[in-house]
Amino acid sequence: SSTKVVEDMDEFQESLQTIPKKVNWDGRWLCYYNNFWCPERVLKSTIFFQRNFKAKDSDIILASIPKSGTTWLKSLSFSIINRKKCTIPESPLLITNPHDLVRSMEYGLFLNSENPDLEAFSCPRIFSTHLPYHALPQSILNAKCRIIYICRNPLDQFISLRHFLLENSGEDQQKALPIDEAFELFCKGLYPFGPVWDHAEGYWNASLNDVQKVVFLKYEDLKIDATSHVKMLAEFLGFPFSPEEVENGVVEEIVKLCSLENLKNMEVNKNGVVVKSPTVKFKAGSYFRKGEVGDWKNFLNNSMAERYKKIMEEKLGKSGLAF
Ligand code: A3P
Repeated sequence: SSTKVVEDMDEFQESLQTIPKKVNWDGRWLCYYNNFWCPERVLKSTIFFQRNFKAKDSDIILASIPKSGTTWLKSLSFSIINRKKCTIPESPLLITNPHDLVRSMEYGLFLNSENPDLEAFSCPRIFSTHLPYHALPQSILNAKCRIIYICRNPLDQFISLRHFLLENSGEDQQKALPIDEAFELFCKGLYPFGPVWDHAEGYWNASLNDVQKVVFLKYEDLKIDATSHVKMLAEFLGFPFSPEEVENGVVEEIVKLCSLENLKNMEVNKNGVVVKSPTVKFKAGSYFRKGEVGDWKNFLNNSMAERYKKIMEEKLGKSGLAF
């Protein structure tokens, strides 16, 4: 079935001939695997992650669809967990891109190895993934590990994704579709790890079913009040702030350290490259753009937005989720 995790790699190689494929707006291929659009270049690493990852109860998994605030969530979670090991002035975030501190499963660890040695990571281990909830390795669902999901207004996510893909597409840029054609595909859910309505709803339902395991965040809420979210996340992760820390402004210090303004202006994030594998690299600067709520209004007209709103209402109507 389309939701079954691949068990035999040889069989899988054969089935690759018949797997539905579509070209994304940046000219790269997407494969319809496990009921989502998996970028072809991380299809194998996704399967290795699903088959080989062994979760520990102490693990922390940061989940998102690309361009929903992953970088921010990585910076905040890393800082919360490691604040006793290194104070803010010593934070590795000052000299390291957040994506090199919290590695991605399918876009990193399992892209470089079928079965990477993750035992050497100090506990709690923090990893990230873009897989939808239903496609996570069984081991994550079985263990007591914690999952933080972040989502964002999909129109802003679309615009953010478009900038990111164009900035990193290099020579392929000529193949990129104009924005209105890209938007057509977006309305069909055709983009990396889409459709977003399924993606978000999976984590939403999981967060309702098990509040100890999954927390569901919205980028826009974090923008309104990062401080209370950082406190909440610290509790959820089992690293609550002491009254002294709160009094001494540690929460605000973390918020400031992880702010877009601050991270964006660091040398490592301006000129560096995030190397996911020898062939998959992204410009460090492309992870930090405007971070504005409602930036879509500068690129999409109202009738496009209305159309998208209807699609979302139709898809999410019964779930109680709106974003
Ligand atoms: P924009 O393109 O709208 O500016 P992701 O981290 O999932 O790749 O998402 C990238 C988006 O998050 C970009 O949005 C980027 O500017 C924004 N972003 C990155 N770091 C951020 C931070 N520390 N605080 C707020 N937004 C951030």
